[in-house]
Amino acid sequence: MGYSGNIVEEIKSRCNIVDVIGRTVSLKKMGINHKGLCPFHNEKTPSFIVSEERQHFTCYGCGATGDVIEFVQRYHNLDFFGAVERLAGEYGIDLEKSGYAGEGKKERLYEINREAAAYFYKVFTENKNPGRDYMEKRGFTTSTLRKFGIGYADPEWHSLYEYLTAKGVEKEHLLALGLISESKGKLYDKYRNRVMFPIINTRGKVIGFGGRAIGDDTPKYLNSQESSVFLKKNNLYGLNLTRQEINKEDCAILVEGYIDVMSLYHHGVRNVAASLGTALTENQAAMLKRYTSNIVLSYDADSAGQAATLRGMDILYNAGCKVRVLHQEECKDPDEYIKKNGKEAFLDLVKVAKPFAEYKLDLLRDNSNISTTEGRVNYLKAAAKILKALSPIEADAYVRKIAAETRISEGAIRQEIFGRQNADVIEREQQQKTFTEKKLQSVAKGHGTPIERNLIKLMLVKSDYVPKLEPYVDAFKDPDCFHIYQIIRNLYLPDEEIDTRRIFDSLLEEEAITLKDIMENVQLADKDSHVFEDCIDRIKGSAKNRRMNEIIEMLSVLDEEKDGTAVVALTKELQELQREKNRGEII
Ligand code: UTP
Ligand code: MN
Repeated sequence: MGYSGNIVEEIKSRCNIVDVIGRTVSLKKMGINHKGLCPFHNEKTPSFIVSEERQHFTCYGCGATGDVIEFVQRYHNLDFFGAVERLAGEYGIDLEKSGYAGEGKKERLYEINREAAAYFYKVFTENKNPGRDYMEKRGFTTSTLRKFGIGYADPEWHSLYEYLTAKGVEKEHLLALGLISESKGKLYDKYRNRVMFPIINTRGKVIGFGGRAIGDDTPKYLNSQESSVFLKKNNLYGLNLTRQEINKEDCAILVEGYIDVMSLYHHGVRNVAASLGTALTENQAAMLKRYTSNIVLSYDADSAGQAATLRGMDILYNAGCKVRVLHQEECKDPDEYIKKNGKEAFLDLVKVAKPFAEYKLDLLRDNSNISTTEGRVNYLKAAAKILKALSPIEADAYVRKIAAETRISEGAIRQEIFGRQNADVIEREQQQKTFTEKKLQSVAKGHGTPIERNLIKLMLVKSDYVPKLEPYVDAFKDPDCFHIYQIIRNLYLPDEEIDTRRIFDSLLEEEAITLKDIMENVQLADKDSHVFEDCIDRIKGSAKNRRMNEIIEMLSVLDEEKDGTAVVALTKELQELQREKNRGEII
């Protein structure tokens, strides 16, 4: 992003960490370090240590640790660049000279946008004007309007142009930002007689504007064109105000419009953002994912909104989000709904929002005629396509539902989803399950955790998994499973499948029941590589979880003065593990 590595060095050498942290946390000198109450968790006795020598902070209570930039990031909820800028600003460091290439020019553009936003805001607030009348008529209070920095562009042709050029702003910049337009060599304000919505990124920079017509002028909204500072696909409207709430609620409500964001916010639903009127992009999905992976789509009820919902949910699902879809009866958008029915009613809709697969299936069923055979078959084919994208376990829940709706057998539906062979296997396994389940009521049930049982099944299905599992033998804790594993391990030859009869030959009766149970009842549904990855993740996860507890225990008994280096190393390791966990990499 145009930062050269030495900006970090420069910041670190010029912004003394004790000085920076000392401004917000009261620090006491203790030996060579400084100590205080950790600002990142609640505590009564100080466990937050700042080392001047190493320019580093560490909390032995919550594991927070880092350098001066990381402190500012976390304390002020900024990204890396935001923290660098803040520190540079405070300590008078010239970012451009320090290799802040490109960003410096952008800074100027952001600044101009900020001036423009301030101008629109001033016009909006200082005197009575059609923009404010309009927004007040729509129910917004002064405090919401201020929060979103809403402004007004008057009907004149040169107000903003004259205001900003008088301040020395270059007209090239105004053109680049789309604040003015040019026609036949004449320059004029692009936004006239419009309510102005500044679009502010999560670093607090004004990157663009949306201007809403007050009457029936077209277009209804006039937006900034794309520029080096305004990349629609990378931003979400409102996120600058709502990301903390999204993080806290671990859920984001995604809406279509500027007004929807403001309206929900105004009514107290503050975990909301809008995709800036365009179809949701992968970048926007990834951005949301930084704060939560639970997304509720609440787009307009019209057909455009429905199409956007369908596209958006796939993008979000692929980004690893859990997507649900909110359905509002008889209202065109969330703004109208919450205005009419209030916050609680809206939150009730959020609660019952449909998981995305269910939404798709319901939509499909409503558009199919399942009273005819042909309609049912077409419905089934299309439904199978939807379910194919899910994991077998997720899909299976819907198989039953579709079977009940269409009165087509579960077996036929599975066949359509998983293919003939796999469906047969699953079907047989299902039948056998009921059969063996009955049988096993008199005989003892097989042993092992789901991970152990899946691992054994994997090795039976593909012997390649035997060497792959070697590093994870510790996962076999159940004695039966461990013994089965040892036998498989001994029988293994590269490129040959394991002969299961030979395993049985070496097993005790109890162990044989376990193996038989695994062979009959553990289903991989042709997703063996997925199952394998999942097991490995879980094994690693539990090992790491154990390690985290171990470290926390050790830290609680170590003396940070005497065992300084060990404490630092352990805290670092813990912090790394906690980061992994936060990223969802440890299960
Ligand atoms: P809507 O037409 O639903 O507008 O467009 P809205 O936000 O609900 O506003 P009101 O309530 O009618 O005043 C949804 C979003 O699509 C984009 C804007 O981002 C808008 O908020 N849009 C819409 C445009 O960019 N240009 C347009 O002409 C219309
Ligand atoms: Mn709308």
